[in-house]
Amino acid sequence: MRRRIVAGNWKMNGSKDLVKQLVGAVCEQSGNVGKDVEVVIIPPAIYLGQVAEQGGGRITTGAQNVSQWQSGAYTGEISAEMARDMGCGYVLVGHSERRQLFGETDSVAAAKVEQVLLSGLVAVLCVGETLAEREAGQAEAVVAEQVRSGLSVVADDQWSRVVVAYEPVWAIGTGKTATADDAQAMHSEIRKVLDGMNAPANEISVLYGGSVKADNAAALFAEPDIDGGLIGGASLKAEEFISICRSFPAGV
Ligand code: 13P
Repeated sequence: MRRRIVAGNWKMNGSKDLVKQLVGAVCEQSGNVGKDVEVVIIPPAIYLGQVAEQGGGRITTGAQNVSQWQSGAYTGEISAEMARDMGCGYVLVGHSERRQLFGETDSVAAAKVEQVLLSGLVAVLCVGETLAEREAGQAEAVVAEQVRSGLSVVADDQWSRVVVAYEPVWAIGTGKTATADDAQAMHSEIRKVLDGMNAPANEISVLYGGSVKADNAAALFAEPDIDGGLIGGASLKAEEFISICRSFPAGV
């Protein structure tokens, strides 16, 4: 089913103290978030247990990354199964920072999606074009290819556990957000690509990420094909994050 989701990707930020303060504050206010909105916190893996414990079931947790392999001699890696074991509901796959800084290709992303789905979790495939690609008029083609390749491994009965996050690389951590119109246009394209893959495109949540803040979330979330957000910097401030979680149109 198409869900409204706001997920806070802490990236490599945080500490035991921050978990205590931030998750505590988010949970306190989680009752003020629409009943159909799922609030997800995605901390560094080492804090997943603490976040889950502190969250006490009021939030869902997610992992920022897992291995493309199932288990074994892969020092430094964590598996999708371990993420499930620690209570995660979601796993990010193919975040642009993984693609750019750690050389993750579409085929690695596909292998990770496969592992995540095998473990029964929801895979959030992150896609997005660079500024150079956008300026060259290639944004749609680049994103379409990332979606097609990354999700090429999804079986017919697994689509209910797939989420796509459109995060234009030029908007991440830059303070530049895609306009609601531009984001909507790309989300609609992504749904067309999903439809072309015989996926139930209208049932799949497509999130927007890239400099989402309390003051621009409502315009983005009002668009028909934007089902929520993947939030970086603003997810490290409880008030701001909760305010984003409350930015859906009335009735959600
Ligand atoms: P910012 O919200 O800091 O731009 O980060 C977006 C992001 O990369 C979330 O995954």
